Amino acid sequence: MVDIHSNKFLQESLVSEKGFLDIPIDPQLDLFGEIEKLKKEKNAILLAHYYQEPDIQDVADYIGDSLGLAQQAEKTQADIIVFAGVHFMAETAKILNPSKKVLLPDLNAGCSLSDSAPPALFKQFRDKHPDHLVITYINCSAGMKALSDIICTSSNAQKIVESLPVDQRIIFAPDKNLGAYINKKTGRNMLLWNGACMVHEIFSVEKITKLKIRHPNAKVIAHPECEEPVLALADYIGSTTGLLKFSKADPTQEFIVATETGILHQMQKESPHKTFIPAPPNNSCACNDCPYMKLNTLEKLYLCMKYEIPEITMDENLRLAAKKPIDRMLAISAQYGL
Ligand code: 13P
Ligand code: SF4
Repeated sequence: MVDIHSNKFLQESLVSEKGFLDIPIDPQLDLFGEIEKLKKEKNAILLAHYYQEPDIQDVADYIGDSLGLAQQAEKTQADIIVFAGVHFMAETAKILNPSKKVLLPDLNAGCSLSDSAPPALFKQFRDKHPDHLVITYINCSAGMKALSDIICTSSNAQKIVESLPVDQRIIFAPDKNLGAYINKKTGRNMLLWNGACMVHEIFSVEKITKLKIRHPNAKVIAHPECEEPVLALADYIGSTTGLLKFSKADPTQEFIVATETGILHQMQKESPHKTFIPAPPNNSCACNDCPYMKLNTLEKLYLCMKYEIPEITMDENLRLAAKKPIDRMLAISAQYGL
């Protein structure tokens, strides 16, 4: 019988069929120890987003928001970047640092926001507005980035918009909620693409209002991907890193957190005596868990590091076209010390 552990062809077939390596693992294996060992043996860095499950966050070398992760990916000296996040994040790492091997534990880890902007459709829209500059949220495919002038994240979107002349016409894509929030903050009138994140659109204003009555001292903190009525209830709005910093620095002891639940792990670690309540969704499901982020598991992470697959690869022309607007974002961010 052919042994899948030593057969690259079989491993690659499995990944093209399932999107990840589905190989049984000895349940007694110390995955934390094995992952640490693999990191050293292979000179690999493990980057994780705050929405990853707690075990993955605990074994990561760096945990951050989309901007922080892109900056780390760009500057790392490691030979392998293991990305515990979603596809567009790993793709961004490859765009910025192409000589590195970039691994993603499960290729099915997509993003509803990214899916809401298919490049071919967006190109038609963009071509109808040739006098507009295109600012695109980093939650998009390389194809969308290649159609954009500047990329932004939730932590630098306002500064990037403000860095442009007030009379500059702008298309903002794909997140209409973040776009509307930035329009409100800057007084601009950017043309918004009609995309949204399925996780951040699920919060119930009614349930958050009831929670606030039951917890009168709690502050509501929200990610700008949330809809306007949820943001209107918030005491603080920011990227995941912004939310984490605020929850640590603010003297309030209780927070209602309107973003994906993964961030609560770091909030609780950094402020063990404070109480963090996930904002409730508008039904009884656990929809404030991102179904894409949560596809990564410790087992898939271990397997992808051991066998160095699934790997992110990209056409060089597409990479270069997608890199330009990311470089502009990083340059503006550096200017503002972000
Ligand atoms: P940030 O971590 O950059 O705030 O983005 C949140 C998000 O939804 C990532 O998918
Ligand atoms: Fe995409 Fe939303 Fe999941 Fe972030 S939380 S990866 S924006 S679907």
